[in-house]
Amino acid sequence: MGQQKVVAINGLEIQIQRGSFTAIMGPSGSGKSTLLYLLGGLDRPTSGSIVVGESALDQMDENELAAYRRQKVGFIFQSFNLVQSMTALENVEFPMWFSGTQPKYRRQRARELLKQVGLEDRLLHRPTELSGGQQQRVAIARALVNDPALILADEPTGNLDTQSGQNIMLLLSELHRNGKTILVVSHDTRMLRYATDVIYILDGRAVSEAEYRATSELSM
Ligand SMILES: Nc1ncnc2c1ncn2[C@@H]1O[C@H](COP(=O)(O)OP(=O)(O)OP(=O)(O)O)[C@@H](O)[C@H]1O
Ligand SMILES: [Mg+2]
Repeated sequence: MGQQKVVAINGLEIQIQRGSFTAIMGPSGSGKSTLLYLLGGLDRPTSGSIVVGESALDQMDENELAAYRRQKVGFIFQSFNLVQSMTALENVEFPMWFSGTQPKYRRQRARELLKQVGLEDRLLHRPTELSGGQQQRVAIARALVNDPALILADEPTGNLDTQSGQNIMLLLSELHRNGKTILVVSHDTRMLRYATDVIYILDGRAVSEAEYRATSELSM
């Protein structure tokens, strides 16, 4: 940032098991979103190495990274990030425009996914005509179009009421049972019920649960 150097992640060494449902906990500004952006190929580390499956993200050029984003990961954001002028169906189809999928197949796949998230009766609604929980379900359907093995979710329930948040957690849990690796940042401690692993982050590095608890108690 101009003259000021911001270190978001530093000396962070973690392993995430394939097939896990990993929750990332940490206070505001500790580097959780930065970590997800790095893992999703939306940002690059200045140094260090990130290996997802067989792929070393830090070694990839822009084209390889774009292909990685398109094929290997699904990203879910706190603010849904849907295209406002497009219907639910079009939003879900959108990522397939870039993967050379046949229009007919695209539409069919988008329908199937919207059905899977319980929105078969909202296909032609635009984001402003949907509730927050429904918009997030469209975003989840969109994240699944290319059948990625890894789902990254940055506070997916942060903008939702309690019940809608619960439904999103159940949906993520179902994806986990079906074999996806789920990595989710959340302030909602209910998420821990579904998690198989938890990573605690303070100031850009991973710490033990004990250290995390001691520090959180001090700051309270
Ligand atoms: N684009 C950016 N340019 C400069 N600094 C940034 C940028 N994005 C984040 N930061 C800084 O990096 C650090 C980590 O930010 P990050 O967004 O990863 O935190 P977070 O754990 O996701 O916080 P929150 O819980 O509030 O979402 C913060 O100090 C933040 O100010
Ligand atoms: Mg964040």
